[in-house]
Amino acid sequence: MSDAPEITQEAVDAAVADALAATAAAGSTADLKAARAAHSGEGSPLARLNAQLRNVPNDQKAAFGKLVGQARGQVNQALVAREAALAAAEDAARLEAERVDITAIAPRGRVGARHPVSLLQEEIADLFVGMGWEIAEGPELEHEWFNFDALNFDVDHPARQEQDTFYVDPPSRHLVMRTHTSPVQVRSMLERDVPIYVLCPGRVYRTDEFDATHLPAFVQFEGLVVDKGITMANLKGTLDHVARQLFGPEAKTRFRTNFFPFTEPSAELDLWHPSFKGGARWIEWGGCGMVNPNVLRAAGIDPDVYSGFAFGMGVERALMFRSDVQDMRDMAEGDVRFSEQFGMVV
Ligand code: DAH
Repeated sequence: MSDAPEITQEAVDAAVADALAATAAAGSTADLKAARAAHSGEGSPLARLNAQLRNVPNDQKAAFGKLVGQARGQVNQALVAREAALAAAEDAARLEAERVDITAIAPRGRVGARHPVSLLQEEIADLFVGMGWEIAEGPELEHEWFNFDALNFDVDHPARQEQDTFYVDPPSRHLVMRTHTSPVQVRSMLERDVPIYVLCPGRVYRTDEFDATHLPAFVQFEGLVVDKGITMANLKGTLDHVARQLFGPEAKTRFRTNFFPFTEPSAELDLWHPSFKGGARWIEWGGCGMVNPNVLRAAGIDPDVYSGFAFGMGVERALMFRSDVQDMRDMAEGDVRFSEQFGMVV
């Protein structure tokens, strides 16, 4: 045991000083574990001094035992205190890192609202269903024949021009994005037997600017009646009823002469809107007329036996003046804050 340390005050003080310095220097509980092993564990200077007590003469055992024991106690106390401090600091750092602010507003998915254009479209459809009409639908990608030819449009009618109509490649297929819901008139006549009472709501497309009063895609509703003895009085009565249902008991309609290839006579349809924001007034709303005999013929219906009326109106436009929407683009942009103003119907 030649390297056995001798128990002296200096040796004990030096071991204690080293142990305390290492303890204070430990920056983490892992560092501290290493410091404990080196300065208080088996083989550490203090442990080796302690082991030397065996060799101390009996009469000095108590004094040396006290010297080493106090030193070990002091080091252990320092280790325990340092451990508590490091553990508390590490806990605090972890809590800070994992902190959850329970007062923050959780990024919950917002509940959506039905779009007011859809709601109004449904309200209009319900109104006609209530009168015993059927709802008819047709494709948005439409054949030119249904969109124009069968509706008695000349080949050089201006609406066919590229600036109004989205033509779809290849041109040889003669497909267009329908420019109005009127082709559903023809489809309805081909699919059904007379008498016909159909309402055809749906999206239509035009190469219009996207501005406050135009949308390149918007919704129309088209009405078609074909029966025996149908006159313009039936058309007027129906439209006045629709106006009252949608705009209040004082609402009414007025016709102004116009031309559409698929109706004869044709009229521009104005609505008297009693509760219009800036005061009651006439508002241009759509077109209508008596179904042109050529259209009935194209659909295989004998115009000498049957007559009919038709009309077509814009839903966004109706929403604009019914709910005082200033800018049509608000209806296309899909911002729920806009829809919410019309109630949270889901
Ligand atoms: N299709 C026409 C348009 O989009 C509107 C229209 C006018 C529809 C007269 C009709 C009608 O059914 O008879 O401008």
